[in-house]
Amino acid sequence: MTVGELQAGAIDNRPILVFDSGVGGLSVLAEVRQALPKAPIVYVADNGGFPYGTKTEAEIAARVPALLGRLAERYRPRLIIIACNTASTIALPGVRAALDLPIVGTVPAIKPAAERSTSRVIGVLGTDATVRQPYVDDLSRQFASDCLVLRHGSAALVQLAEASLRGEATPDGAYSDALGGLLDQSGGDRMDTVVLACTHFPLVADRLAAIAPRPLTFVDGASGIARRTATLTRDHSWPDRATPAIAVFTAPIEVSEGLKASLAGFGLSKIERL
Ligand code: DGL
Repeated sequence: MTVGELQAGAIDNRPILVFDSGVGGLSVLAEVRQALPKAPIVYVADNGGFPYGTKTEAEIAARVPALLGRLAERYRPRLIIIACNTASTIALPGVRAALDLPIVGTVPAIKPAAERSTSRVIGVLGTDATVRQPYVDDLSRQFASDCLVLRHGSAALVQLAEASLRGEATPDGAYSDALGGLLDQSGGDRMDTVVLACTHFPLVADRLAAIAPRPLTFVDGASGIARRTATLTRDHSWPDRATPAIAVFTAPIEVSEGLKASLAGFGLSKIERL
């Protein structure tokens, strides 16, 4: 859409593009839809590159900007949300340099966790790639300097969230193992707050809470991302009625009935292949 058309009052149908390696970004999408109910949405799951958490920095830094470039050409979004901690902590500067669009990234919610923790021991549960980023050191230094910050990367928890969204049964023991990666570290017995630093994890937060040996506060960044997106688009016009949101997969996938139902639960009734 040209500026002229916008000024002439034409309806601005450009979507917000929400991007993740898989279904994790749905935890962010839920908050965005609540904040901006009329926003047209394209949700992209890079199943062709999934999982990101076990890849190298170089692989992620090369893949994400190139793929988002293709997606931006195809869907012409007004704004892109990288609803993935792994991609954001590694590739955000590259994406911003490559695309002339507002880009909202996802960062581990260490600041809000430090604000809430009484025991001053917080855990960061993310992917292996995220928890080893210097970005996490910086956030810890800046916002949680008086806290013990424990970190654990769990590729298994990402798979559990994917399986659970497909409607498959997942065993309690697997969630205990993931949380145990934090609780069993020195100081873990005093941890009272856990940052869900992978967008897949809020989707299974109830399972983590259920197997936790004591009440823990789980914190993620989704509501902050939705607020930031609303601020950046506050002067935008939106279509009058909510348009059907689209789910896009980057590689062939058999969409099971369970996954289809979960996607529909997030308003994604149309499914496409890139
Ligand atoms: N959902 C992603 C994140 O927030 C990554 C999961 C993966 O592909 O390993 O980090």
